[in-house]
Amino acid sequence: MKAILIGFMGSGKTTVGKLLAKQLRLPHIDLDDQITVVAGTAIKDIFSQHGEHYFRQLEHEVLLDTISQDGVLSTGGGTPVQAENLKALKKAEIPVILLEAAADTILERVSGDSQRPLVNSLNKTDLVSLKKHRQPQYHACADLTIKTDGSSPEEIVTQILNYLD
Ligand code: S3P
Repeated sequence: MKAILIGFMGSGKTTVGKLLAKQLRLPHIDLDDQITVVAGTAIKDIFSQHGEHYFRQLEHEVLLDTISQDGVLSTGGGTPVQAENLKALKKAEIPVILLEAAADTILERVSGDSQRPLVNSLNKTDLVSLKKHRQPQYHACADLTIKTDGSSPEEIVTQILNYLD
């Protein structure tokens, strides 16, 4: 991978990842999409039929399979939180970009999204606490952190390209 995007749900990983890949003329790989292909079912159905633990196992396997491919990788919000994934992300020595957004921005972007199984059960307090809980792992592997509130995807991609240069 040329770059890996990490960050909480709704921080813009997929939107920015697609645009960054386009600018770099590289394939964009979305980890959740790959998991969906491997499992043959939507993420929400993996969670409801097999549980989060099974999803995390698949997520780990797919991360290891994709990390050495060429392209830009958008991970899931929980990917770096698993110790073995964090280890793999650090070991790969690929630029890891953390996209940050305020809780209100995230709530606005993801509320009512039926495809995100963890969203339905989260109110603002839970979201803030889950986000806070994940910060250490996010920062443990991030080479660059970008605040996305109020910036367009194009502006964020410009910042990433400047960093990669
Ligand atoms: C998750 C985030 C989702 C997806 C799954 C779990 C999480 O990805 O991997 O629903 O634990 O935060 P997005 O960050 O793309 O929504």
